[in-house]
Amino acid sequence: MDTQYNRTLETLEKLRAESIAGGGETKRDVQHRIGKLTARERIDLLLDDGSFEEFDVLKLGRGGALGDVKGYLGDGVITGHGTIDGREVFVFSQDFTVAGGSLGEAHAQKICKVMDMAVKVGNPIIGLNDSGGARIQEGVDALAAYGEIFHRNVRASGVVPQLSCIMGPCAGGAVYSPSITDFVFMVQQSSYMFVTGPSVVKTVTHQEITSEDLGGAQVHSNVSGVAHFTAPNDVLCLREIRRLISYLPSNNRQRAPILDLRDPPDRIDPALDFLIPDNPNQTYDMNVLIYSILDGAEFMEVQAGFARNIICGFGRMGGQTIGLVANQPAVLAGVLDSNASFKAGRFVRFCDAFNIPLIALVDVPGFMPGPDQEHGGIIRHGAKLLYAFTEATVPRISVIVRKAYGGAYLVMNSKHIHCDVNYAWPTAEIAVMGPKGAVEVIYRKEIQAAQDPETVLNEKMTQYRQTFANPFLAAQRGYVDDVIFPRDTRHRLIRTLQVLDGKEGKGPSRKHGNIPL
Ligand code: HXC
Repeated sequence: MDTQYNRTLETLEKLRAESIAGGGETKRDVQHRIGKLTARERIDLLLDDGSFEEFDVLKLGRGGALGDVKGYLGDGVITGHGTIDGREVFVFSQDFTVAGGSLGEAHAQKICKVMDMAVKVGNPIIGLNDSGGARIQEGVDALAAYGEIFHRNVRASGVVPQLSCIMGPCAGGAVYSPSITDFVFMVQQSSYMFVTGPSVVKTVTHQEITSEDLGGAQVHSNVSGVAHFTAPNDVLCLREIRRLISYLPSNNRQRAPILDLRDPPDRIDPALDFLIPDNPNQTYDMNVLIYSILDGAEFMEVQAGFARNIICGFGRMGGQTIGLVANQPAVLAGVLDSNASFKAGRFVRFCDAFNIPLIALVDVPGFMPGPDQEHGGIIRHGAKLLYAFTEATVPRISVIVRKAYGGAYLVMNSKHIHCDVNYAWPTAEIAVMGPKGAVEVIYRKEIQAAQDPETVLNEKMTQYRQTFANPFLAAQRGYVDDVIFPRDTRHRLIRTLQVLDGKEGKGPSRKHGNIPL
């Protein structure tokens, strides 16, 4: 029947179809051909089946000031909310088929709306980014629009988890907004992040470089440290986002959900008694300890390819999410350098903001010496980790498994910067520095004057080792709460997490501290 109501319904259907079509079939096919999913397909895979509720499907873009660009219906971004394992999240997904996913005024207003709602109701916000940045034809309006998003990113920081997934070539604001968020995911071979793309690089610097070499997933996960997670394709990347969400609370007022993996809390692992080699200069893999103590041997490592001398990530103990920071003796002997300090500092601050208890597994010979590190600012970078651990008010536990030397010992969540409970294995060595360095400083004259300097050096080192290369002096002082059998580590940690459950930590009243950024 041709009624006014029916005509309105037809118009509605036509407009919805136009918006949903995005940039059209041909451009969609191009995306599929290069191994990418479309913006809508990504949302469908990210969220529980049928849970997506869309907003602003009919919102119209303003068009370009140059007059050659029409206003797009939907304006190149899909926004709304849905669930992941039954928990609500807000989402936006940029559509590269519409003006390269570039961000115009209406596009940004749609994103801001879901960001505002996410903060208002206390749910995570997930951005699927596939955008050439500020829409050139909208000029200053596009820049103003990015400013609104940055403002909201910062206001939401520490209130709700913000996750960014880079799923195509992203430039300008499309990389700055993600870099403010908590975690950045990238897809290998099809996602890129740069402030300006290869063509601008060529114009300005006359340098030829591919997108992959300039800002591919490999570069940002192994070299720059911008990306926290990478995956071989869109499907696996979206699955990883769902996995990360399972470890996190929905906002800073909540605790992370408990997930019982049916792994007995009192399970012991006798093999751990033999993990530490007799020779203190010999390495071992800290992952053996990590996977042994966590529920179900499940660990989600953050920035696995960057600063591999420190390991950060999420696991569960007794069903509860914990944030784990561990030195890795198998890489650079586990020293702290600038990148490791930055990586772990940021991770610690995330955990603290979102009520996730922190566990440090310590085997650290010190800070990395040398002009490269000194001139690169290891003092201020190391201070980030020191500040982050010291500031954290969530339950904090440490286990010193072997070396704990000097400033690096203090920084790694030591008792002296007020960790709550500090355990040591019998193999722990807690001192100002390692035996050789220490002996060469305090017995230099004696060694130089000796007829056989090598023998004197070795004698002094043995003496030093007997005095300091054990946990007993620290235990006598009460700096170590207990010297535990390695096999019992899991059980002891879970019991300690239970007793610290009611911890209330509040610092002095202030606007905010001044972390050495
Ligand atoms: C308008 C854009 C666009 C943009 C891409 N397109 N970027 N339209 N504004 N910023 C359009 C293209 O014209 C093209 O339209 C379509 O999107 C696909 O782009 P291609 O170049 O064909 O794709 P590709 O070869 O894959 O290259 C993607 C790209 C490149 C690397 C993103 O397009 C690029 O370099 N774009 C400019 C990036 C940039 O410098 N942005 C401004 C950043 S400043 P048709 O119609 O042909 O399909 C910024 C300010 C924020 O964001 C402040 C930060 C602090």
